[in-house]
Amino acid sequence: MSSLWAVVPAAGSGRRMASEVPKQYLPVAGEALLEHTLRALLACPDVRGLVVALDPSDRRADTLTSLADPRVMRTTGGAERADSVLAGLNALAEIAPGNDWVLVHDAARPCLPVADLKRLIDTAKGHEGGAILAQPCSDTIKQVDEQGRVITTLDRSTLWRAQTPQMFPLHALRDALAAAIEEGAHITDEASAMERAGYSVAVVEGPACNIKVTVPADLSIAEAYLTAQKAAPSVVTGKIES
Ligand code: C5P
Repeated sequence: MSSLWAVVPAAGSGRRMASEVPKQYLPVAGEALLEHTLRALLACPDVRGLVVALDPSDRRADTLTSLADPRVMRTTGGAERADSVLAGLNALAEIAPGNDWVLVHDAARPCLPVADLKRLIDTAKGHEGGAILAQPCSDTIKQVDEQGRVITTLDRSTLWRAQTPQMFPLHALRDALAAAIEEGAHITDEASAMERAGYSVAVVEGPACNIKVTVPADLSIAEAYLTAQKAAPSVVTGKIES
């Protein structure tokens, strides 16, 4: 029987948020953003353990209730998101056998419904190359040059916006990500490391509420989703919660 683990990169400074407090600690719906994110993963009983990658100068982590959960471990994050994820994977690789799985989920996505997490887990387990949550593009997408002029319009019918969580065989992801970093590739999600390594990654349609909090305006959107989820979970996801 294989186990499922999770890595949460939470070592970013959140520069685009223009706040003194790193964005993972900004208050949303009465709690730190990271608290909501960790709780969403810990709500899934399939998750055996979780590693949070933190900035070495982080003095706020001890204020989080979820960090005291016996399933939660900590590691030191790196200069880039991919380095933080790799640090978490390396920590897990020491305790997890070769056939275990891992979810990677950004600290900055606090509104993940457990029903969507379960759909991702069910699909990923049937795919050697793992699976990701993603949303079909509804906007028309332009490729633009450095002078701000449109080069071309992409065919949006084939374009999806990748979300997290993303779920893969733990050791395969660790090897793929380590190789990509070693080769100097600019890796912004785990699926791209798996794609580089030749794996086929499945896509599961994610919910619109699973936003990545990036700029100040996103905070009030996340607040609205979290408040609505507390009141009526199935209204926000558009799906029946199991
Ligand atoms: O900056 P961005 O929103 O893309 O960051 C995505 C996630 O990666 C955030 O949860 C952030 O805390 C994390 N991160 C990290 N280590 C870094 C940079 C970002 O863990 N060096």
